[in-house]
Order: sequence, then structure tokens, then C-alpha cells
Amino acid sequence: MPHTLKDVLPVTATVNAKDRLEIGGLDTADLAIEFGTPLFVFCEETFRQRAREFKKHVGEDIFYAAKAFICTALCNLVQEEGLGLDVASGGELHVALQSGFPPERMVLHGNNKEDADILRAVEAGIGRIAIDNLEEIDRVSAAATSFGVTQPVIIRVTPGVEAHTHHYIQTGQEDSKFGLSIEGGLATEAVKRSIEATGLRLVGIHAHIGSNIFSYDPYAKTLEILLAFVAAVRSDSGFELEEVNLGGGIGIPYLAGDYPANLELLGSLVRETAKKESDLHDVPLPRLTFEPGRFLIGNAMVTLYTVGVVKEVPGIRTFVSIDGGMSDNIRPALYEARYSAVLANKARHEPTRLVTVAGMHCESGDLLIRDVALPESIERDDILAVPATGAYGYSMSSNYNKQPRPAVIVVRDGNARVIVRRESFDDLVRLDQQ
Ligand code: LLP
Repeated sequence: MPHTLKDVLPVTATVNAKDRLEIGGLDTADLAIEFGTPLFVFCEETFRQRAREFKKHVGEDIFYAAKAFICTALCNLVQEEGLGLDVASGGELHVALQSGFPPERMVLHGNNKEDADILRAVEAGIGRIAIDNLEEIDRVSAAATSFGVTQPVIIRVTPGVEAHTHHYIQTGQEDSKFGLSIEGGLATEAVKRSIEATGLRLVGIHAHIGSNIFSYDPYAKTLEILLAFVAAVRSDSGFELEEVNLGGGIGIPYLAGDYPANLELLGSLVRETAKKESDLHDVPLPRLTFEPGRFLIGNAMVTLYTVGVVKEVPGIRTFVSIDGGMSDNIRPALYEARYSAVLANKARHEPTRLVTVAGMHCESGDLLIRDVALPESIERDDILAVPATGAYGYSMSSNYNKQPRPAVIVVRDGNARVIVRRESFDDLVRLDQQ
């Protein structure tokens, strides 16, 4: 295993005496045979370590962003680590409730929430609903009134900050479908209406500026804007916004040479800014909360594929085809995301052959990794391990070309367990009606 992939692979990754990649104390080439491929291998230890690092350096109040990856077993793990959960749809809410996750530790997001989902969340006793537009205030108020409860809410605001990331995953700028603009006055209006609405208890504000962010200054800038807003609300109405949720977005390494997240830096930046701005505006330090998804789960998973056709197009390139592709990882096609790869069964072979890893789908754009160095000996039936697929891999997967979705297994201390079973061909006609 190239040492340079240490930060990209799960924390338990090693190479064993047979020259094979091991994760969670298990030989990944054996896992590929036992469970089939494509296969998501989830290292529990990595997730737990990341959760603890985040708590230690940045903050204790974490709502794991379920959209990055969710299943009932993961909800249990999130609960065990003492984290909360950010759910952003009726489906994510359903999975979390099915797992028995405590509703009071969840926040419901969404720019177009269904009434049914609001009602279900309120009825379950969800901890927070993030108000994303003015009309939602009345809808949540009506739901709370119908159940005779008081629903805590936070208001998602757009701070007008641009994070340095792919424009598809920037969300803090004014021209965004999410949140209520501070600059344009909608956020102030939302605060006013939420305070007046029956059945609501306004506890704070929220901003999520984007995803896969490496330069942390935009977080400090956002916090400055949010605390100035907290102060403005206090001086206008005397109302105290107690909670400031900074969303998620912390970037992770995908390639050799990518820097790991610097949580010490992020933590001190956030703490210092919060202190400085609350002193400046003479408001109490708010409770700071966070919603990391990718940071917690991204490097915790590796996808295993079986190599099929190796086609050399003379003078152009060598295509190494695998048994998955854009159906289990749409990110290269959608965001031009880059990944690294290791031959799991030849982990110490020098990567000297430049190839392109191609998926099995009927699209020229279904190229998982353009120009990656793999061992000279790469051939049919080798097992290709692609690290850092935990976030937005399985969760954005599809049945394109009627490809069954892969299984997800969790590995720890030499044991493996299926947490999401592989779809069968029969599953592909499960919803069809004649
Ligand atoms: N909180 C809110 C309100 C969000 O919208 C998101 C992500 C998060 C937290 C978690 O962000 P994270 O820490 O995972 O970056 N599919 C894209 C990413 C979309 C992110 C959407 N919102 C990708 O594959 O890069």
C-alpha cells in the first residue's frame, strides 16, 4: 500500500503478509470473494475516531448529516457515539425513526418539506426543525398546534459567504435555493414571525455554506455574520438566539498528497471568532452546533470492485473496466471528483502503469478514475479498492442499467457483518406492475 494513501484510507488499513490490503483486521481480497463485488467496506473504527476528534477539537454538539450515508445500523453507531442526526427528507427521517434513534436528538432540514414529513417529525418530538422559508413557519406552527406541543425551531439563513468549492455544492451565497437571506431582510422577518407564531420556540439560527471545504476562513466569516445577526435581533426585539449551527462541509483527502482536515485549526478559529464577536457585540456566547457528514464517514469506506476487461487502445490509453461505476459512485461524472485506487490483492506492487478505470455503464462519461497509476500486472479478477467512498457514494447510488446496488459491510477487529444487503435481480422488478 502506498504510504501516501495513509490519510485517504480507513485508519485500520494495513498490508498483510500475502501482500493484500486489510481493513478492520480483514483481508479485503477475501471479503470480495465472500461478499461479492462491488462492495462498500465500512471501517467502524474510522467513524468512531473521527467523531471523537471532532468533539475534542471543534465541538461536542454534532448532528451527523445523514445524507452522506445512512442506514439503520449506522444510526445505532451515531447514537452510541453520542451524536445527533441531521435528516433532510421524509425518507431519512423514516430510516432514523425505524432504527429507534431518539427524535429529540434530530434536526429536520429541507427547502421543500412535505406537510406529512413536518407532521411526522413534530409528532415524533423532533429536537429541531430548520425553517427554510417564510411559509414553513405557518406550516410548522399548524402542525405543532394540532398536536398541542411546542416545537423548537432554528432558522436557516444565507449569510452571503462563498465557500471555495465546486459550485454545485456551494450553498452560502445569496443566489441559493436554501435559507433566508440576512442581507435581503428575510431572515429578520422569519425571526419576527417565528417569535410570534403559536406552538414554536425559536432557539437559534443555522448556516451551511457548502461542502468539501479546505480553507476555513469562510467559517469564521460566516460566524461573524451570524453573531452580528444575533446581536441585531437582540437589540431590535430583546430576543436571545441561543444556538448557532454552522452546518457541515469539512473537506477530506481523496488523493495521495491531499491534506487531512485540520480540526485543531478549525476549532480554534471557531472558538476565537465566537468569543471575539460576542464580546464585540456584547451578546452571550451561543451554543455552537455542527453538522459534518463527509468528514465523519468519507474516509471510513472503501469500495471493492473486480477487474474485468483490460483494454489497451494503442497510443491512447488503457481502460481497466470494473463491475460497478456511476451507479455506485456518481461523483466523478457529476463533480469531476478525483479518486485514488489500490490493487487490493497486489497492494505492494509498484504502481507504474497509467490506466483509466472505467465503469460498466453505457456512457462514455462513466469513468471512475482517469489516469491513475496501478501495477503493471493488473489483470482480470484483480480486486480494485477505491478509498474515500463513504460520503455521497452509496447515498447517491442508482439502478442505472438495472445494476443492483452493492452491499455495505461493516468491519471491526477481524469481524465483518452486512449492514445493507446487496440488491438482487429480483429486487429490480420488485416495484414493477403488469
Ligand atoms: N448540513 C446541511 C444543511 C447540508 O446541506 C449538508 C450537505 C451537510 C450539513 C453536510 O455536509 P458535509 O459535511 O457532508 O460536506 N453530494 C455532494 C455533497 C452535497 C452536500 C449537501 N449538503 C458531494 O458528493 O460532494
